[in-house]
Amino acid sequence: MIQSDLDLFGPQPQRLASHTVLLPGFALGEIEPLLDALRPVLRAAPFRHMRTPGGLHMAVALTNCGALGWVSDEHGYRYSATDPLSGRPWPALPPVILSLATRAAAMAGFEGFVPDACLVNHYLPGTRLSLHQDRNEQDFSQPIVSLSLGLPAVFLLGGLQRADKTQRVPLSHGDVLIWGGEDRLRFHGVQPIKPGVHPRMGERRINLTLRKAGS
Ligand code: SIN
Ligand code: FE2
Repeated sequence: MIQSDLDLFGPQPQRLASHTVLLPGFALGEIEPLLDALRPVLRAAPFRHMRTPGGLHMAVALTNCGALGWVSDEHGYRYSATDPLSGRPWPALPPVILSLATRAAAMAGFEGFVPDACLVNHYLPGTRLSLHQDRNEQDFSQPIVSLSLGLPAVFLLGGLQRADKTQRVPLSHGDVLIWGGEDRLRFHGVQPIKPGVHPRMGERRINLTLRKAGS
């Protein structure tokens, strides 16, 4: 049988490492529902620059939705059930975001992924995120699902040691990147965002990372 599915000609999943998969444009058909869902989250829990344990302000502005949210202050990095700005629980994880993350994870071989935390990062041109591991979560058997919106970025995919060489992974609006399994603790970061104006998102990059942070 000759397949006539138009998806056949769309960008194909790319395996970047044994348990790291890029789904180019995976979210492109759902951008407006995703943004509609994100808007009330950002009203209830605005982007802010958190302090690092060393007392510096992070270049990336962030907020969260979901039962748990990633926070940083002078006491360290951790997950919190409440937004330190408002003292209230974080806004709920919108179903459209949850569904996207679960489907993307399944495409990458992680069936049954149910995130309880969504970190939302805001990058202006020039903002970078230095190499780090995501290790504040309790269960490293669960993957990280990352959705990119707005200005393009170069994601650095490193190894399990900070000094390992990094792979440069261009990420565009609507791309979803998933890493888990033996890649779960790979170092990663984002190169400084190049100046530009994205037609839908303006002069910014927004990245959502979905995690299973609690037990
Ligand atoms: C992160 O590592 O938390 C964010 C990665 C990204 O912005 O692509
Ligand atoms: Fe990270």
